[in-house]
Parts: sequence; structure tokens; C-alpha cells
Amino acid sequence: MKKIGSHLTIAIDGPAGSGKSTVARRIAEKLGLLYLDSGAMYRAVTVLAIHHRLTADSPELIDQVKTCRIEFTDNGKTILLNDKDVSVEIRTPSVNRLVADVAKIPEIRSEIVKHQQRIGSEGRIIAEGRDLTTIVFPDADFKFYLDASVRERAKRRLAELRKQDVDTTLEFVEAEIQERDEKDITRAHSPLRTAEDAIIVDTTDKTIDEVVDFIIAEVCKREIGST
Ligand code: CDP
Repeated sequence: MKKIGSHLTIAIDGPAGSGKSTVARRIAEKLGLLYLDSGAMYRAVTVLAIHHRLTADSPELIDQVKTCRIEFTDNGKTILLNDKDVSVEIRTPSVNRLVADVAKIPEIRSEIVKHQQRIGSEGRIIAEGRDLTTIVFPDADFKFYLDASVRERAKRRLAELRKQDVDTTLEFVEAEIQERDEKDITRAHSPLRTAEDAIIVDTTDKTIDEVVDFIIAEVCKREIGST
């Protein structure tokens, strides 16, 4: 079997609540890969906009993005923006509301994509987001597209928000997810789409472990096949 060792890129895309982050994090632990949460970077830029009271499309925000430092520690568990831990702040409702508008600005995307590709060049990585299989790592060794019904995705997101003591309803969360999906799918630059060579996984009725096991099995199957 070809050793999963020297260089490996697993890219996962999908809409909000499809399970990308949890699945990718677990696979990273199991296979000893670097985990890249690309959405966290757009969320950090959104925090930057909020702190500086800048709108998503302001030229000042692009300048800030060019000079700011966005770094991960603890294999992606913690994100630092200019040395400040913003891991909790990036998940707040105000960031959820604004992030898709920030992420559609081409100059912001190109800065963040360059940063992601630099991180990816470090070696063995599992990266997830909206354009990892299409734009950031078009030559990834493995590509997956995770999906689930909007109701199921809203239920998952609601459970996460309740853990953070956010008082909201399933209907509200579902509407917010639909609105963000719409923005991510219809934007002009790097919209969310399924790469032709991605394996589509419908996670609606699957547990996290089932999805993790499926992806690991696919990776091992093809790695064996390539010897
Ligand atoms: O966790 P969830 O799927 O809700 O979102 P996320 O992965 O943290 O991404 C938040 C937002 O960032 C998305 O709705 C997109 O607007 C944007 N994003 C993007 O444009 N490209 C990526 N590669 C990742 C996220």
C-alpha cells in the first residue's frame, strides 16, 4: 500500500451544516493530517471588519486583510487574528450574518486563497470550505462534497448554537442558512459548486462516524489501488 505519508491533500466542500468541520477534524486526528478550516479565515476577516467598523466592500478592509496576521494553533482548534484568539468570536450570530458578504469580495478571496495554498504546501492536509476542491486545491488527491437537507443542517446548527447559549429557533436558523447558501452559490467569484471529480456524500441520515469511516475507506481504497 502506498504510504499515506509524504504528501496528501484531501479537500472537502459543502454548504453550512453539512458536517465538513467535524468530519475533517476527526479525519485529521485519525490520519495525522494538518486541518485547515478555510471558513474560519473568512470569519476572522469578518471580525476584522466588525472591529474596525468597515463594510464588507470597503477598500480599507482589503488593506487590512493584506497586512493582518491570521494563524491557526492546536491544529486548527484556535484561530489568532493579529495574535488575538478570536476562536469564539468568529462563531457569533453577527459574524454568521456578515461573513458571506465579506467572502464574496474578490480581492479578499485572493489574499485568503494565497494564504491557504501556502499552508497546503506544508505537506499532508485536510482542508474544508466552499472552494477547496475547485479553486484552492484543484489538484487535490481526494475531493469530497458533503451535503444534507436544509432542515437537517439547520437542526445541527441549532444544536451548536444552543450549546453556546444562543437563544434562537429552528425556523430562524434555517432561513439564515438558506440565505447564506444562496449567497455562496450565486456569487460571481468562486461560488460553491460540486467539482466534477468530487465524491458526493449525502450526510442527512448518516452519523459523523459513518461519514468519517466512508471517507477514510475511500482514501485507503484508492491509495491501495495506486500501488
Ligand atoms: O461552518 P459553516 O459551514 O457555517 O461556515 P464556514 O465554513 O465557517 O464558512 C463561513 C462562510 O465563509 C461561508 O458561508 C462562505 O460565505 C465563506 N467561505 C467561503 O466563501 N469560502 C470558503 N472556502 C469557506 C468559507
